[in-house]
Amino acid sequence: MAAQQANGPGPGSAVAERRRISWLIHNPVTYAGAILAASSFIIIVFLLLFELVGGKVTTYLGVLVFVLMPTTFVVGLILIPVGMIWTRQHPPAAEAVLPGMRPFPVLDLNDPIQQRGFILWSAATLVFVGVLAGVSYRAYNFMDSTEFCGAVCHTVMKPEYVTYQHSPHARVTCTACHIGPGADWFVRAKISGTRQVFAVATNSYPRPIPVPISDLRPARETCETCHWPEKFYGEKLRQWTTYQLDEKNTPQQKSMVLKVGGTEAQLGYATGIHWHVSADNKITYAALDKDRQNIAWVRLEKPSGEAVEFTRSDVPVTSDVLAKAEKRTMDCMDCHNRPTHHIIPPGTALDASLTAKRIDPSLPFVKKKGQELLSLTYPDEASATRAIEQGLTSFYQTTYPDVYAAKQGAIKAAIAEMQQIYRDNDFPEMKVDYLTYGDNIGHQSTPGCFRCHDNKHVSPDGQAIRQDCDICHTPVTVKQ
Ligand code: HEC
Ligand code: HEC
Ligand code: HEC
Ligand code: HEC
Ligand code: HEC
Repeated sequence: MAAQQANGPGPGSAVAERRRISWLIHNPVTYAGAILAASSFIIIVFLLLFELVGGKVTTYLGVLVFVLMPTTFVVGLILIPVGMIWTRQHPPAAEAVLPGMRPFPVLDLNDPIQQRGFILWSAATLVFVGVLAGVSYRAYNFMDSTEFCGAVCHTVMKPEYVTYQHSPHARVTCTACHIGPGADWFVRAKISGTRQVFAVATNSYPRPIPVPISDLRPARETCETCHWPEKFYGEKLRQWTTYQLDEKNTPQQKSMVLKVGGTEAQLGYATGIHWHVSADNKITYAALDKDRQNIAWVRLEKPSGEAVEFTRSDVPVTSDVLAKAEKRTMDCMDCHNRPTHHIIPPGTALDASLTAKRIDPSLPFVKKKGQELLSLTYPDEASATRAIEQGLTSFYQTTYPDVYAAKQGAIKAAIAEMQQIYRDNDFPEMKVDYLTYGDNIGHQSTPGCFRCHDNKHVSPDGQAIRQDCDICHTPVTVKQ
């Protein structure tokens, strides 16, 4: 080494250094890295400019700009030094004798060429880091967006995305409920998201998607960032119209007053249905199944420290079964489990269409026929669309030929409306319909409130969780 240095152009000499850098760069890996990085960079900058001047970055374009391109960009940047390091360690035969070979390059800022190179390199790094920071910020926002959650894995999220778009939460992002604020849940969600992407790529995801009940973040950190649990809602009048399954589709006006309640600020105590989530009460329960339908034990704790426990009187549960069951503190989600992904049963959807006159109530038996057609199971949307059209058309052609002749337009409109109801509430590709996910809010389609309010959950002194109709709402009144 020493002899070579003495004879050669000298260690770190500018000429030797330049030659070395140039042969380090000329290798296929570094070339590929540079091309990859440069082309991704140009695409990113182009698309960011496109967005800046008001262009719409669609979901798929978004995946390209914010996820794929930055990844290839960084991979390209990494490949550049990887190629150089590899060549340094495996020098071509002709260069093996190059003088002044040291483990790391020598930087001499007194050499004008190296100086320029260094300034260029620093400026490029600054620009790269700036653009990458901008892209990462947009990537974060993009992955938080409703389109990303709802539309990227199109089929998989269709039931949730479609129902969401018709819900009171249509302007709330998916992540406000599913992830909530803070970095830890974001990271957790992205890890589970990666698993889900794998399931989609390998087509191994379950149909229907199971409810994420046990993985959902507590309502305190999601729902309650917008809704104030102690808010007093008072009583809520609910009025609706149902149509009977007779020839005339006879309407019935129904109403009830729901005692939603809450904590009344002036009075300082809680009443009504939202009494459960008042700060004064803590209700803990244990369910024996993972869907939390079979509730075996309920404990009510008051601020005074006084506590009452209710256990099933009809099927007593042994204490070791109970010890193993998960104990959960009741929150919003125990009643409002479908605040957004609410699938409407055919009868209820038809009632709404008849009330809005999107279906003409003068068409004989239109509700009964519609309910029959919408309650059947179809292999896919196309066959449902056909079956609804054929079913309704042939019904009027054969049973009511004069109605069929006189009300062509109304029949066509009814068919279109029923097909729309199907598209909004049936998702055969995910095996989801109105029976798939139970709603706990009432006690009509699932036990709901009656999971506890069944007169069978009894305290040691014989007091049961009440089922008296009037604690929750006034009786339903019906006007013909
Ligand atoms: C207002 C809060 C809220 C919003 C907004 C919301 N979800 Fe949900 N989501 C829930 C709750 C609560 C559940 C659990 C349902 C249950 O336990 O029955 C759920 C369940 C799900 C499930 C599991 C399958 C199922 O239907 O139970 C998926 C998938 C899902 N949501 C996707 C989405 C997507 C995609 C969006 C945005 C387009 C979204 N959610 C927006 C509250 C929300
Ligand atoms: C980002 C804010 C936000 C979050 C988070 C949120 N909501 Fe809402 N919620 C709203 C808005 C806005 C409305 C619509 C109010 C309106 O239309 O009057 C609403 C309406 C509701 C309603 C009334 C629905 C109706 O039929 O009128 C219920 C019930 C409800 N939310 C429950 C929940 C539950 C349960 C969660 C948690 C899973 C939740 N919300 C999370 C903002 C939010
Ligand atoms: C014990 C069950 C239960 C719990 C727990 C519960 N709710 Fe409700 N909530 C109801 C019922 C029942 C209604 C009335 C149903 C309806 O409007 O169809 C209601 C109504 C509402 C409404 C609409 C009020 C209005 O005037 O339109 C909002 C908003 C709401 N709840 C939010 C919440 C939030 C947020 C939580 C958690 C802090 C919560 N609820 C906890 C059962 C519950
Ligand atoms: C996990 C068990 C549980 C579930 C589920 C449940 N409750 Fe309750 N609820 C209780 C307990 C315990 C009490 C106190 C005992 C009583 O009042 O009978 C109570 C009391 C009430 C009260 C009386 C509040 C007061 O002012 O004293 C109302 C109203 C009520 N519940 C409505 C509902 C409604 C509506 C639902 C369904 C949307 C529901 N509950 C679901 C456990 C439950
Ligand atoms: C623990 C509270 C609670 C008790 C007790 C209760 N209900 Fe309800 N009920 C509800 C809630 C909540 C709803 C759903 C309201 C909604 O969908 O907005 C409901 C809905 C109904 C409806 C359906 C209205 C519709 O949508 O067609 C009827 C009918 C009804 N209740 C009758 C009764 C009768 C009869 C009793 C007495 C045996 C009773 N309820 C006891 C909470 C209760």
